[in-house]
Amino acid sequence: MARGFKATRARRGIDFYDDHPISEGPVLAAAIERHGEKGRLEAEHLFEYDQDHYGGVAAVDLLARRARIGAGSRVLDVCAGLAGPARFLASRRGCRVVALELHRGRATSADRLTRRTGLSALVRVVRGDARQLPFRAASFDACISQEGFLHVDDKAATLAECRRVLIPGARVAFTDWVARPRLADRERTHLADWMAATTLASVDGYRELLGRVGFGDVDAEDITDEWRAVLDTRRRTYRRLREQYVRRLGEARYGEYESLYAFFVGLLEDGKLGGARLTATR
Ligand SMILES: C[S@@+](CC[C@H](N)C(=O)[O-])C[C@H]1O[C@@H](n2cnc3c(N)ncnc32)[C@H](O)[C@@H]1O
Repeated sequence: MARGFKATRARRGIDFYDDHPISEGPVLAAAIERHGEKGRLEAEHLFEYDQDHYGGVAAVDLLARRARIGAGSRVLDVCAGLAGPARFLASRRGCRVVALELHRGRATSADRLTRRTGLSALVRVVRGDARQLPFRAASFDACISQEGFLHVDDKAATLAECRRVLIPGARVAFTDWVARPRLADRERTHLADWMAATTLASVDGYRELLGRVGFGDVDAEDITDEWRAVLDTRRRTYRRLREQYVRRLGEARYGEYESLYAFFVGLLEDGKLGGARLTATR
């Protein structure tokens, strides 16, 4: 058994997101509590709660700079979750964003939150699979993804698809968990079972894959230290809001997340798992 980890029910695949702490109900409740019920709900009222990745909107902004996203860009966000990053980009940069998400419930929530914040003219939510993008070739000026590819088994197909839908010269920029050499097979299995991390690539693996599917100008940044700090804060917040989470998810599920955090932090501390930001040009 991996360090600090209790036995939990296996959650292979994206049913991991069926009762995720970052979901439509809690996001709305938190935003309304903070900003009040009166008046229109603005996208920015949600930013503190609807970003399901490490580093919040600052991380989206950085990725947008790497992908050279401007006001006129047609952007694809792959594995878009609740479309928090998509709404941030549309509202701050004025670009059009397609938010591609496979999980039915999350895609529906993403669409509802987008309508509620009046951004439907700029953000379109599409339910679909990253491995087989339902878009014509060369239809986007930039492609981003945050902490989504860990869930996707066929990363070569996914990256090839991202390249196919980009115009020549456009960039893909994404962040993901990466495996370090000492990550053991049984730890990979735990990550797959308990947080749907189907496969984890290494930084070199990503470099090789991006080159193999035809991207050039590949750049990789190690962002493990940034994520360690974020993970720590998330874990403390999660503990602080224990009562709320237990009420919503139940004691058992709360405990699962708590031990997941411990397991995760352990892997980071042991240098077995890291975070990376990758950029490449079509
Ligand atoms: C950690 S969340 C990140 C969400 C979003 N990028 C964000 O930062 O807020 C990963 C998302 O990827 C989605 N996902 C997993 N596999 C997918 C696939 N094959 N195609 C599209 N989306 C997928 C999950 O349902 C989940 O919503």
